[in-house]
Amino acid sequence: MKAIILAGGSGTRLYPVTQAINKHFLPIYNKPMIYYPLSLAMLLNIKDIVLVINPEDEEVFKKIFKDGSMLGINISYVIQDHPNGLAEGIILSKDYIDGPFMYLLGDNILYGHNVWQVLEEAKEDIIKNGGAYVFGYAVKDPHRFGIVEFDEKNNVLSIEEKPKNPKSHFAAIGIYFFDEKAIDIASNTKPSHRGELEITSLLEEYLKTKKLKVKLLGRGYAWFDAGTHDSFLEAGEFVATIEKRTGLMIGCLEEIAYKNGWISKEELIKIAKKLSKTDYGKYLMEEVVNAF
Ligand code: DAU
Repeated sequence: MKAIILAGGSGTRLYPVTQAINKHFLPIYNKPMIYYPLSLAMLLNIKDIVLVINPEDEEVFKKIFKDGSMLGINISYVIQDHPNGLAEGIILSKDYIDGPFMYLLGDNILYGHNVWQVLEEAKEDIIKNGGAYVFGYAVKDPHRFGIVEFDEKNNVLSIEEKPKNPKSHFAAIGIYFFDEKAIDIASNTKPSHRGELEITSLLEEYLKTKKLKVKLLGRGYAWFDAGTHDSFLEAGEFVATIEKRTGLMIGCLEEIAYKNGWISKEELIKIAKKLSKTDYGKYLMEEVVNAF
């Protein structure tokens, strides 16, 4: 399976910080924001990654990740000329889609014990049965998100983008699984009143054919959409708190690559030595190289 990560957009909600820098490069505590969704895909053993990016950010993304080989993964880049909406990322990535795929928003951070297992179940189900998956997370401010309504058996009843009168308080977080039909469905989706190809319009089409499924993420998980100043700060504070208390990093790409067997101990040591003056490099050496 491949993962497509959306890392374009205009980032207007983080102005003036994002006037000259794409938000996905901003630090969530000690790592660029983009590390967190990428780490989730890697935790699901997904090695083929497509990054959808703005044309002006191509150079910087390539400076950070190149082709991904230093992490034992393959990174391809797809350019989105204008932020025309989340569903457009699927249309633009169509040449890379060869089956069911994971779709992630580049400003989402998800953390929790064995969270990958919940995602893995959905991944396996999509591979076997097709359709689309969303993940519901209880929020206090449902008007800010795509909101999923469901019955007692978790059948999805509706999905609405930033509703004025939310039918539930469960946000559909920025992690999705789709079968390859999503390309055609997204291509036939009409732009919303704000002129964007909304992800919820695409999900509504799956709902019409009863192919939209939801999994709920309970209280044991922390989810952030770091796209506003407050949530950006909260996400950074959360990562800092957990990392300082446990001594374990969230979203450390080299650690995941090494534990997945995608890079060797020698390769990891080389990276750690380059960064030996930083806490990140020390972590790689002390907690990862020496521990495993
Ligand atoms: O975070 C979860 C929410 O994300 C969902 O509940 C909503 O249903 C979904 O529409 C989305 O809402 P946002 O308003 O938070 O989306 P935002 O415009 O912040 O874009 C999400 C990510 O996608 C962000 O990392 C930027 C990137 N992006 C956005 C657009 C509009 C692109 O790469 N291209 C785009 O055209």
